[in-house]
Amino acid sequence: MDRRCVVTGAAGFIGSRLVGMLLDEGWWVAGVDAFTDSYDPEEKLARAELLRSNPRYHHVTADVAETDLDAILEDAEVVYHLAGRPGVRDSFDIPLKYHHDNVLATTRLVHAARRAPAVRRLVYASSSSVYGNAALPFREEGPTTPLSPYGQTKLVAERVCLDANDAQLETTALRYFTVYGPGQRPDMGLRRFAEAALEGREISLFGDGTQSRDFTYVDDIVRATRLAAEADVAGLAVNVGGGTRISLNEVFELLAELTGGPVSIRREPFARGDARHTGADLTRAHERLSFQAHVDFADGYAAEVAWLGERSRVALRTGS
Ligand SMILES: NC(=O)c1ccc[n+]([C@@H]2O[C@H](COP(=O)([O-])OP(=O)(O)OC[C@H]3O[C@@H](n4cnc5c(N)ncnc54)[C@H](O)[C@@H]3O)[C@@H](O)[C@H]2O)c1
Repeated sequence: MDRRCVVTGAAGFIGSRLVGMLLDEGWWVAGVDAFTDSYDPEEKLARAELLRSNPRYHHVTADVAETDLDAILEDAEVVYHLAGRPGVRDSFDIPLKYHHDNVLATTRLVHAARRAPAVRRLVYASSSSVYGNAALPFREEGPTTPLSPYGQTKLVAERVCLDANDAQLETTALRYFTVYGPGQRPDMGLRRFAEAALEGREISLFGDGTQSRDFTYVDDIVRATRLAAEADVAGLAVNVGGGTRISLNEVFELLAELTGGPVSIRREPFARGDARHTGADLTRAHERLSFQAHVDFADGYAAEVAWLGERSRVALRTGS
């Protein structure tokens, strides 16, 4: 029988990659995305265009916080909820937009999923930002003290999902740790650093570079997200991280090797809302999802830098 699912945020960095995996597995996918202005919508439109070439993909251009969701969810078995407004810094300036895309959209979707006859599981893309500067490694049952409106909205949305868990609709929240790889969002540090280095520009760095992140390769995140639709994780938050903490100074050393030249850095004060360090306790991910990251940081970042290099060569050729 045809298996159907819904992916919200299907034109996004991670969502589009997840849709690709689901289509490869033979699923029929309804992708919902409003092509919001969080960054250049052209990048999102281009991803949706590629997905549309598969006859098992159906795109719905709509705002999850406003559209009628019943028809979209009607035959779906699983809902992957990745639509959201990411990014810590902007969230201080436009908190209501974050509330709309993260809290309101999630609340409406969870309500609709409870009404939908076939939906058995909802997987939510939460964030390591819910932890703030908690003690390392971050544990799911430990304190959550977000440092920004973004982190706050992800935490509220996560609660909305998990509190709805029952025998009819199973819900789970995956706490993604900084996701990177080909296709990464233009506002994210690793992409900004690599673009500056490839173009011979100065890298602007918030802080002294000692801050560290548990970076997670996009294909590892997507695999964990798929596993969460089937595994024994109902009602739980689960960390998904790459398993190693890398400082930004280590990132710059690797970037110099990958681009074949020294990178020049302009230091600016630490940014408001950024955690100093992130690191996932992956015990639950191992035990419940049988998840382990496959891609180490050096290989994953090399793939991202190669993708960016190819992108700029194409732009030069086509004059775009
Ligand atoms: N990238 C990361 O490192 C990371 C880390 C933790 C959590 N997350 C979460 O994972 C999800 C995907 O992140 P991403 O990096 O792919 O971001 P992204 O911005 O590339 O993708 C999100 C997509 O959702 C769409 N969208 C936003 N609000 C919408 C709405 N109200 N209705 C319909 N569509 C809407 C956007 O147009 C966008 O295409 C987000 O929820 C984000 O908070 C990402």
